[in-house]
Amino acid sequence: MPRPSSTSLSAANLTEPYVQPAADKEIIGLSQVTFGYSRKRLVLQDLTLSIRQGEFLTLLGPSGCGKSTILNLIAGFYKPLAGLVTHGGEPVKGPSERRGVVFQGNALFDWMTVEQNIAFGFRFQSLSKLEKQQKVKTIIQLVGLQGSERKYPYQLSGGMRQRVAVARSMVVQPEILLMDEPFAAVDVQTREGLQEELLKLHEQVSGAILFVTHSIEEAVFLSDRIVILDRNLGGIYDETLVQLPEPRYTPMNRVSDAFNQYRTDLYLKMKAIG
Ligand SMILES: Nc1ncnc2c1ncn2[C@@H]1O[C@H](COP(=O)(O)OP(=O)(O)OP(=O)(O)O)[C@@H](O)[C@H]1O
Ligand SMILES: [Mg+2]
Repeated sequence: MPRPSSTSLSAANLTEPYVQPAADKEIIGLSQVTFGYSRKRLVLQDLTLSIRQGEFLTLLGPSGCGKSTILNLIAGFYKPLAGLVTHGGEPVKGPSERRGVVFQGNALFDWMTVEQNIAFGFRFQSLSKLEKQQKVKTIIQLVGLQGSERKYPYQLSGGMRQRVAVARSMVVQPEILLMDEPFAAVDVQTREGLQEELLKLHEQVSGAILFVTHSIEEAVFLSDRIVILDRNLGGIYDETLVQLPEPRYTPMNRVSDAFNQYRTDLYLKMKAIG
C-alpha cells in the first residue's frame, strides 16, 4: 500500500510546501487501453490499471509484454488505439513536466556538467538564477552527488550517471516518475545502493513511481505493489501487494523470510506465464 511520505527539510526546499494527498487517490489511470505499433499486432488489449498518489508500483513481465509501451503511453509519447490514459482525471495529450521519465540509457548531455544536466530539468520554469541554483544544490545533496557538480558525464561512473538522470527528472517534482529499467546497466553493489537511495528519495519528495525491471528481487525490495504482465493476454496476469517492515530501505529487508516468500511466489507466477 502507499507509504506515508514525510516532507523533509531538504525536500521542502525544492518547491512550495507539499500537501499530503489522500493515499488512495488515483494519479494515473489506464482505462480499457488497447494499443499496438501496428493495428495488425496489438501489444495491449483492454488494459485497465490505476496508479495511486505516492505509490511505488512495479511492472514485471517477459520481454516484449509491453512494459515500456505502458510507460510511453503514460508519458504521452504514444496515444492508445482505444481506451483512455488519464493523469489526475484529465486525458494525457502529450508529454508533460508533471510526469518525469528516466530510461535505461539515461541520456545525459555529454557537453554539460552534472549541474547543467540537472538544471536542464527545469528549463521551462520561470525561476530566478538563484532559485535554480538552490534547487540544483538541494537535489544534488539528496542524490549524493556533492563534489561532482562540475564534472562531465564521461568523468562519472555508471551509477553516478544514473543518479544524475534521476536528479534531473526530480528537480521539477513530477507527480509521477516513470523509470524503465533505470539500474539495469550498473553492477550489483551500485545497484543496491541506488535502490536504497531511490526509496529514501521517494519517502522525502513524495510523488508516485512507476518502475520497470526484470529483477524480481529489485521489484520486491522497492515496491508497494507489483503487477505482472502477460504477453498473450496483452494485459495484467497478477497483482501482488508487498508489505515489508519500514523503513523499506533497510538492507535486512533483502534477506528476511517475508522477502524470500514474495520472491518465491513471484518466481512461480513468472514461470507460469513463461
Ligand atoms: N517503436 C516500436 N515499433 C514497433 N514495435 C515496437 C516498438 N516498440 C516496441 N515494439 C513491440 O511492441 C512489443 C512490446 O514492446 P515493449 O518494448 O513495450 O516490451 P517490454 O515489455 O518493455 O520488453 P523488454 O522487457 O524487452 O524491454 C514488442 O513486441 C516490441 O517488439
Ligand atoms: Mg522495455
